[in-house]
Amino acid sequence: MPIQWFPGHMHLTRQAIAERIKQIDVVMELLDARLPGSSANPLLAELTGHKPRLKILNKQDVADPVRTEAWLAWYNAQPETRALALDASETAPAQRLIDAARSLAPHRHGMDKPLRVLVCGIPNVGKSTLINTLMGKRATKTGDEAGVTKVEQRVALAKDAYLFDTPGMLWPRIIVEQSGYNLAASGAVGRNAYDEQEVALELLAYLQRHYADRLVERYKLDDASVALPDEALLTEIGRKRGALQSGGRVDLQKAAEVLINDFRSANLGRMTIETPEEYEAWLAAGQAA
Ligand code: G4P
Repeated sequence: MPIQWFPGHMHLTRQAIAERIKQIDVVMELLDARLPGSSANPLLAELTGHKPRLKILNKQDVADPVRTEAWLAWYNAQPETRALALDASETAPAQRLIDAARSLAPHRHGMDKPLRVLVCGIPNVGKSTLINTLMGKRATKTGDEAGVTKVEQRVALAKDAYLFDTPGMLWPRIIVEQSGYNLAASGAVGRNAYDEQEVALELLAYLQRHYADRLVERYKLDDASVALPDEALLTEIGRKRGALQSGGRVDLQKAAEVLINDFRSANLGRMTIETPEEYEAWLAAGQAA
């Protein structure tokens, strides 16, 4: 069943962003580098119209470096857009962010015309982590739950450059089915919105096609079992990891959780579960449907 998750209070964020955008020069969107297409919010383009865009492929430390390069090229080819890859290990990312943002708004400099950057991104892409790094201290983290108001933040990146936190939460907007599965696998979607076994089977089918060697290594599989149909393979993974019910039968729910957790925590190595070409094809198929 396709995952649908678009909480009603998103319209409040919409209004707040529309209001805020008037005083903004560059819109910086944090993306999950493991799913750089699906973790983008298409609504943002609608809301921010002609403003230049800075796309940050965050968590690059857990993404496939070759695919990150491909995604950077894809985003950099879009008009009024710059893309950078980043991860939380970079202790002083401000200068790279400022340089990229300034190149998009060269007329904004000096104390009388400071550069104003708005940071946006769906839950779990690393906004709080980045803002904390930029602020140089641990700010209190507020929840991602519906209705939780985040304290608005303005971070000075330089004497004449500011970063503004998004007013309200920007929820994922699932426009193609595969994006829903990828968002769920990454942890960006509320747990009640999806079936873990379904998400694990979709993820597994993709990993079989693109990262079979990682599955072999992590779960000590042989060549025959890694080629099994996805449910049989998930059963095998469950057996290998001791995800068993009483009576020794494999607990598929536990096996699904093992796989999803291993993907999220990069126990399977650095991987990216969509390419620009695949994402474009999903969008085209979604529009044609
Ligand atoms: P958000 O504000 O956009 O919702 O995201 P947040 O900063 O809370 O980050 C979500 C999760 O992603 C956190 O893990 C955080 O540590 C992790 N994260 C952020 N940036 C990076 C990065 O560049 N690389 C990697 N690998 N992980 C990153 P968590 O498990 O939810 O919490 P915790 O481990 O920090 O306790």
